[in-house]
Amino acid sequence: MILSGKAKLAGVFGWPVGHSRSPKLHGFWIEQHRIDGAYVPLSVRPEDFAYALRALPRMGFAGANVTIPHKQTALALADHVEPLARRIGAVNTLVVREDGSIEGRNTDAFGFLENLRHAVPDFSAATGVSVVIGAGGAARAVAAALLDDGAPRVRLINRTRSRAVEVAEALGGPIEVVDWEDRAEALAGSNLLVNTTSLGMTGQPPLDLALDALPRDALVTDIVYVPLETPLLLQARLRGHRTVDGLGMLLHQARPGFLAWFGVMPAVTDELRRFVES
Ligand code: ATR
Repeated sequence: MILSGKAKLAGVFGWPVGHSRSPKLHGFWIEQHRIDGAYVPLSVRPEDFAYALRALPRMGFAGANVTIPHKQTALALADHVEPLARRIGAVNTLVVREDGSIEGRNTDAFGFLENLRHAVPDFSAATGVSVVIGAGGAARAVAAALLDDGAPRVRLINRTRSRAVEVAEALGGPIEVVDWEDRAEALAGSNLLVNTTSLGMTGQPPLDLALDALPRDALVTDIVYVPLETPLLLQARLRGHRTVDGLGMLLHQARPGFLAWFGVMPAVTDELRRFVES
């Protein structure tokens, strides 16, 4: 990669950031589109984040992604925050405006829906009840996406019920909080099941959820993507459900940032998936 003096710059803020797949992902698109630009890991401690964020426009960056543990701080620090990011309570994408001010966005909801739509073209949340497991940042983005896509009802189920209640209050809309003990029965009559917890990730216990009550035509998806087929997705596939893995959400959530910084809306292809997985 050879850059000119006019190269466009972006990166990802994280601490630690070494595990992030974003540099590889954006690097693939930069090469694919022969863009004079670079996307770099920005390893920044929490105590230095405000300083580093302010430095973005001063150093000529077009913007950056934000990952753990900076997503909430980015929301507080951005000069402008889009309404969706405020509802979700986290910013994962920063865009430097022409006047040098910083706009905070959240592209996780977009990434979640785009992933489902690409995998299952006729998917629409509007056609039935969705069940969401978890109540962290990912659950907020997923529930917001489903509500905005017209879900008539979202059943939110979390081990710690009070966190699910908080999410329901923050998002508004037809969210029904279900007790953790009642999770298996809550699958009845739904057409989408989403795991947003870290359960099922390599090194974590699997999500303990009996799928017997889940209608056969329900779609099952997981935001965990290591492994690609989580125990939940395997269990669902063996019951005959359509399943969608979580890697696509990561890939799709990156697209709006790339467009804002480098001026091209990139595509998610099988080649990209293989490259990011490798
Ligand atoms: P993120 O913001 O990335 O979604 P998080 O805020 O740490 O992450 O949320 C993790 C989610 O996984 C939570 O919903 C958490 O449930 P609690 O709110 O009860 O902590 C859920 N989770 C993690 N480990 C769990 C376990 N062993 N059993 C059930 N839920 C679990």
